[in-house]
Amino acid sequence: MSKAEFQKIGYELIDTISEFFDVISEKPVTTTKSPAELQKTLGNASLPENGLPAEQLLSSASKLLFDNSLFNGHPKFFGFITSSAAPIGVLADLLAASVNPNVGGQILSPMATEIEKQTIQWLAEFIGVSPDYGGVLVSGGNMANFTAFLAARTAKAPKNIKEDGLSNASNQLITYCPKSTHTWIDKAAILFGHGSNSVRWIPTDESNKMDNAILEQTIKDDLAQGHQPFMVVGTAGDVSTGVVDDLETIAAICKTYDLWFHIDGAYGIPAAVIPELKELFVGIKEADSIALDPHKWLYSPLEAGCTLVKNPKHLIDTFSSHPEYYNFSLTEEGGSVNFFEYGLQNSRGFRALKVWLALQQIGRSGYEKLIREDIELSEYFYQLADKHSELQAITQNLSIATMRYIPQDLAEKGEEREAYLNTLNEAILNELQGGGQMFLSNAIVAERYCLRTCIVNFRTTEKDIEECIEIIVHAGREINKKLQGQLA
Ligand SMILES: Cc1ncc(COP(=O)(O)O)c(C=O)c1O
Repeated sequence: MSKAEFQKIGYELIDTISEFFDVISEKPVTTTKSPAELQKTLGNASLPENGLPAEQLLSSASKLLFDNSLFNGHPKFFGFITSSAAPIGVLADLLAASVNPNVGGQILSPMATEIEKQTIQWLAEFIGVSPDYGGVLVSGGNMANFTAFLAARTAKAPKNIKEDGLSNASNQLITYCPKSTHTWIDKAAILFGHGSNSVRWIPTDESNKMDNAILEQTIKDDLAQGHQPFMVVGTAGDVSTGVVDDLETIAAICKTYDLWFHIDGAYGIPAAVIPELKELFVGIKEADSIALDPHKWLYSPLEAGCTLVKNPKHLIDTFSSHPEYYNFSLTEEGGSVNFFEYGLQNSRGFRALKVWLALQQIGRSGYEKLIREDIELSEYFYQLADKHSELQAITQNLSIATMRYIPQDLAEKGEEREAYLNTLNEAILNELQGGGQMFLSNAIVAERYCLRTCIVNFRTTEKDIEECIEIIVHAGREINKKLQGQLA
């Protein structure tokens, strides 16, 4: 591609993207097309034999995507935990791909490696732990937690495990986590050979925090049975309701029993930047490792996760290897860092750039304002639901609110009532997810099927929330009528 062509179609693409950002709130949140209809739109052409003009390709790819996508940057998108992407991150990805450093080895990415090191240091500073924490950027929350899990095992398991493998360990290595922990923990236990029975899902109390008395008792029971506890996970913002565990007590238990203390802060830990929320996060400085996801509450485009480790040597002990065909110096020799020695990846992209640039463009105080606004909007959602006669507000923590639709003429009590409400709210969720007016997801709270909204979105306004309350209630009335008609 010539310089002139690159410039021409590059400018056109930027114009198209700018226009998309400008009108995103007027578009449906998601396409209403079925997978079969999408396949038809895409067509079933076979692999092109000869090349096609780049201008035409980019123009049709833009149209395909802008007309047939789910937009998590839409102001009425509140599903799962996927944020609006900061435009500077979009440009950063273009720049990163242009230089295309391989941030696995320092020699292959001289400045990019320094930028990733600084990004990690700033992320540690951002959440208020020592900037001496080291770490690595990864693709997201699962990978950040996996990386920490493996480092914990190296640090706490019997030393021969690296050579002899898990099957030769005399004791079962046990992990502890609250019942509310994201599914990554199950995946880690299965993939890394511990087995899902090695995970102790500790019950949560009435506020949805891990019951730390049960945690301690379970550790004692396992020790008495000859197992080897090695890691406790505390959650800083659970995926369903946003609750932060009592991290200080978990830290103390880990100290008593010499266990690795990991915090899954993939979603919620950036809220530690807010002075009035510091109390919630007391104990994070004690963590041996922390997972946090810039692609959640730091508004980075996918993919960007981060593992922070108090003593980064545990990462090197876990992941470093030195084949003869790598002639370069080891990490820390002469100040160099090779990120392939810090995690599962070998060749690595420059995902740090988008995080590093956004941290500077927005700044600590800018993030404090944006994150606080998301929390206030979530509180507003909860309050409006609480006031509405056909909605029941259930929980509100950080920027997650849960609620359910309750028809006015429904019987007051009884098992049947609860079963009907679960069916009704599930049907409402499915309708709303496919309808394109707004997008939310679900949570099960105390066996109640709830509509769940998570706001990690700098485009959302109070007006969006007010409109969404009306959309939910309207869908609730329609679906209730339909279901009642079916039952009659
Ligand atoms: C608390 C928590 N941990 C881990 C994850 C997994 O993150 P990812 O989807 O980026 O792998 C999530 C995702 O929502 C989460 O909320």
